Amino acid sequence: MPIKTIIEPFKIKSVEPIRWTTRAERERLLVQSHYNLFLLPAEDVLIDLLTDSGTGAMSTRQWAAMMIGDESYAGSPSFERFRQSVQGIFGYKHVIPTHQGRAAERILFSVMCKKGDVVPNNTHFDTTRANVEFVGAEAADLPIPEARQPATAHPFKGNMDVAALEQLIARVGRERIPLVMLTITNNSGGGQPVSMENARAVSAACRKHKIPLYFDACRFAENSYFIKTREKGYEHHTPKQIAREMFALGDGCTMSAKKDGLANIGGFLCTNDDALAQQEKNLLILTEGYPTYGGLAGRDLEAIAVGLEEALEEDYLKYRIVSTAYLGRHISAEGVPIVQPPGGHAIYIDARAFLPHVPPAAFPGVALAAELYLEGGIRSVEIGTLMFGAHAEMDLVRLAIPRRVYTQSHVDYVIEVILEVWKRRAEIRGLKLVYEAPFLRHFTARLAPL
Ligand code: F0G
Repeated sequence: MPIKTIIEPFKIKSVEPIRWTTRAERERLLVQSHYNLFLLPAEDVLIDLLTDSGTGAMSTRQWAAMMIGDESYAGSPSFERFRQSVQGIFGYKHVIPTHQGRAAERILFSVMCKKGDVVPNNTHFDTTRANVEFVGAEAADLPIPEARQPATAHPFKGNMDVAALEQLIARVGRERIPLVMLTITNNSGGGQPVSMENARAVSAACRKHKIPLYFDACRFAENSYFIKTREKGYEHHTPKQIAREMFALGDGCTMSAKKDGLANIGGFLCTNDDALAQQEKNLLILTEGYPTYGGLAGRDLEAIAVGLEEALEEDYLKYRIVSTAYLGRHISAEGVPIVQPPGGHAIYIDARAFLPHVPPAAFPGVALAAELYLEGGIRSVEIGTLMFGAHAEMDLVRLAIPRRVYTQSHVDYVIEVILEVWKRRAEIRGLKLVYEAPFLRHFTARLAPL
C-alpha cells in the first residue's frame, strides 16, 4: 500500500516560541483592543491567521541567498538574479521591482488609467480597487454568479464572467477600458482559482477588442496547482509549465512577493510594452527607488528570486493546498458554514450563517473573530460589514494560513477551538461601533458588546 499521510515537506531548524495567555488575560486584551483584533499586540496571539501576506517562513536556501545579496544602488547582480527568476516564470519583457503589491498597482493604474475609465476584474482586492479609484477610474467586479453563493461548490469559483465582460465592453466602449485584470487566485472571492479555460476566454475577448490583459498574480503558484489537480489535460504538467502558459495569455502583471514569492516583503510589476515600461520606471524612481532595486534591499531581491521557484515545487504545493482543505473539511463536517470549496490560502467562515441571530449591523464577523481569540488565542480577520460598510454582500471570517509556518497539530488545535465556539454559538452577542475613521475603518475601528 502506498503511504497516504501527507507531511510538511521540510524539517525545522529555527524555532520561534509562541506565548499562551489565560482566558482572563484574553478577556482583558479584547476590552483593551476594543474588540478589533488589528489592535492586539501580536505577542498576545497564539496562532496568527490574520493574513498569509509577508508572514511565511523562509527556507535555508533563501537565507543563504540573502547573504550574497549585493546592495549596490545601480546594476546589482541581485537584481539580475531576481529578473531572471521572474522572467523564467512570468515571461514578460520588463520586470520592475516594487516594495510590495500595492506599489505595483499604484504605478500601473497611474500610467494606464484616467478619470472616467473602467477596469474590469474577476474581483478586485481592496488595495487594487482603492488604487483604481484613486486615479478616478471605476473598478468593476465580474465574477461568475456562483462566486456570490458561499455554500455552492465550483472547481473554479474564481473565474470571470466572460459574457458580463463582453456586455461591459459593449456598454461603456473599448476606449474607456484601458486594461482588464484577472486575480489569481481570487482572494476576495474566497481564495478560489481561475481555470486555464477561463483565462483563455478572457484573453481572447481582450485580444478581440485590443485591450491589454494583466494578472494580479499574488497566488499564481496555488492557482497553478488547482489547475493541475482539477482541470482536464493538465495532470501531467508541472505547476511552472502551467504558470508560464497562463502568463503567456496576458500582457503583464502585478505581484506581491509576500504571498507566492515566499518572502516577507517585496513585489513587482511586469509588462511587454516598451513605452509603458519607460513611464512606469520614471514613476518608480520618483517614489520607490532606482529600477534595479525599486525600494527593496538587494537581499530581498535574492530571497524572492529563490522563493518564486520554491513556491512552484509540487511537494510544497500539495502540502499547502491539502492542509488548508483539511481545516475546511474538518470544521464543515461538524456543520460550521464555510465558503465552499476551501480556498488555497485561507478558509472563510460564513459568519451570517454561523450567527443567524446577529444581524449584519451588529458585525457578526467581528463578533465571531473576537470569540475565536477569546476561546483559543487565534487571530483571524473579518471581511464584511466592518470592512465594506452596509453594502457588504457577506460577513466572512478569514482564517489565512501563513506559508510553511504552522504544522498539522497547530491546525488540529485551530479546528478544536472553532468547534468549541460553534457549540456555544447561541450565546454569542453582536457588537456596536464606538469609533470609526473616515476611510478603511476596519483597521482602527473600536467596538463594544451590545
Ligand atoms: N492583490 C491581492 C489579490 C492581494 O491579496 C493583495 C494583498 C494585494 C494585491 C496587495 O499586495 O499587500 O503586497 O501590497 N493581500 C493581503 C491579504 C494584504 O491579507 O490578503 P500587498
